[in-house]
Amino acid sequence: MKLGIIGTGYVGLVTGTCFAESGNDVICMDNNPEIIESLKNGKCPIYEPLLEELLRKNIKEERLGFTMDLKEVVNSSEIIFLCLPTPQGDDGTADVSRVISAAREIALILQEGKIIVAKSTIPVGTGEKIRNIFSINSVHKINYVYNPEFLKEGNAVMDFMSPDRVVIGSSSNKAIDIIKDLYSAFMRTSNRIITMDEKSAEITKYAANAMLATRISFMNDIALLCEKTGANIDSVRTGIGTDNRIGEKFLFAGVGYGGSCFPKDIKALIKTGDDNGIDFKLLKAVEEINYRQKLMLLHKIKRHFGEKLSGKKFAIWGLSFKPKTDDVRESPAIAIAQKILEDGGSVNVSDPVANEKARPFFKRKSSKLKFFENYYDSLKDVDALIVVTEWNEFRKPDFDKMKSIMKTPVIFDGRNIYNPKLLKEKKFVYYGIGK
Ligand SMILES: NC(=O)c1ccc[n+]([C@@H]2O[C@H](COP(=O)([O-])OP(=O)(O)OC[C@H]3O[C@@H](n4cnc5c(N)ncnc54)[C@H](O)[C@@H]3O)[C@@H](O)[C@H]2O)c1
Repeated sequence: MKLGIIGTGYVGLVTGTCFAESGNDVICMDNNPEIIESLKNGKCPIYEPLLEELLRKNIKEERLGFTMDLKEVVNSSEIIFLCLPTPQGDDGTADVSRVISAAREIALILQEGKIIVAKSTIPVGTGEKIRNIFSINSVHKINYVYNPEFLKEGNAVMDFMSPDRVVIGSSSNKAIDIIKDLYSAFMRTSNRIITMDEKSAEITKYAANAMLATRISFMNDIALLCEKTGANIDSVRTGIGTDNRIGEKFLFAGVGYGGSCFPKDIKALIKTGDDNGIDFKLLKAVEEINYRQKLMLLHKIKRHFGEKLSGKKFAIWGLSFKPKTDDVRESPAIAIAQKILEDGGSVNVSDPVANEKARPFFKRKSSKLKFFENYYDSLKDVDALIVVTEWNEFRKPDFDKMKSIMKTPVIFDGRNIYNPKLLKEKKFVYYGIGK
């Protein structure tokens, strides 16, 4: 089929590339000239495993193209996917203005009926607004579908091509059948397509993220209890995760959730609740715990070094909000580094891929903040190492080498990736979470 993608970021680029890989003709549009220029040259503007290879292959085989011209996409596509950002608005609402404006622009360009698919995360009722925009601004009939995206950055290509499920929300049976057929390429072993009404699909996306964030905050609270009582959160996690009613995923205590989705989606769902007279007390607590947890390592650092951090130097390993991505939006590592700088300390940061993306997120330039390509180099003369993102290469480092580089052998492990016993043997002072 001929597909158009509007917004070529983490979701749009993966969607476009994977649909091209399954044989469709795809044209992707973005209003950022640097992104389009880079993509036209086969260079992926984001770090996402497998994506660049697939991108190049599909450009070469002429199934994938890029443009800044919305008209070109609208006129040449049978189905148009809206993959635009829906960031947090001032009052916590999801700001859907980009999606709404794009819908209006598309409606004005339309020369025939099309299927419009929204993939952005949008609050319940937004689909109705989008449909109204088309009926006011175009004589051509569109069939609207809400198809929320569940990919995880760092595993996005595999998640898209082998999804747990695909949710399709629409009142148009014709559109549902066409979108089902499009995804059938990824459903060879079993059919995991769930169809529902549009509003239920809108709520499904927020409910999924809220449930996952709740698990994280719950475990972080239990971790606190473990610390106070001398128990071990890893044992508790195994003890409960093996109950198949609970399951093993998303039970890791740590420095809290970050990223471009959970923080804003939890806020937006709370706001949608408020707008509908529902007080989401549980989600408010989830947020509060997460805020506390983001700064948990800092409390431990101050308990060890004292309130004043001036004269102290720290290495931070990991800047992306999780491994295998360069996305640093709402990253706990940046929040922690920022606080240390505010408190007078110096910070050496190192991330395998996210150094460049992280630079602009630091509010002020500071001679006390240094970026390192090599993570061992970042340890030179530091008073302590803080591990914030559990990249694989950080999991089994050479502790003897580390000790010889660091000023003092102290590790704050925000992801519980090290064995406290081993570190004790190696004469490190070790702080984990929940143990
Ligand atoms: N990133 C994820 O892991 C993920 C997962 C599921 C759902 N989502 C949701 O998908 C949506 C997109 O997220 P993302 O992470 O891909 O965002 P993103 O910021 O990575 O990408 C959005 C792209 O849209 C472009 N853009 C902005 N305004 C535009 C306009 N008017 N016309 C054309 N292009 C425009 C931007 O330049 C950018 O390249 C959001 O609603 C998000 O909540 C994201």
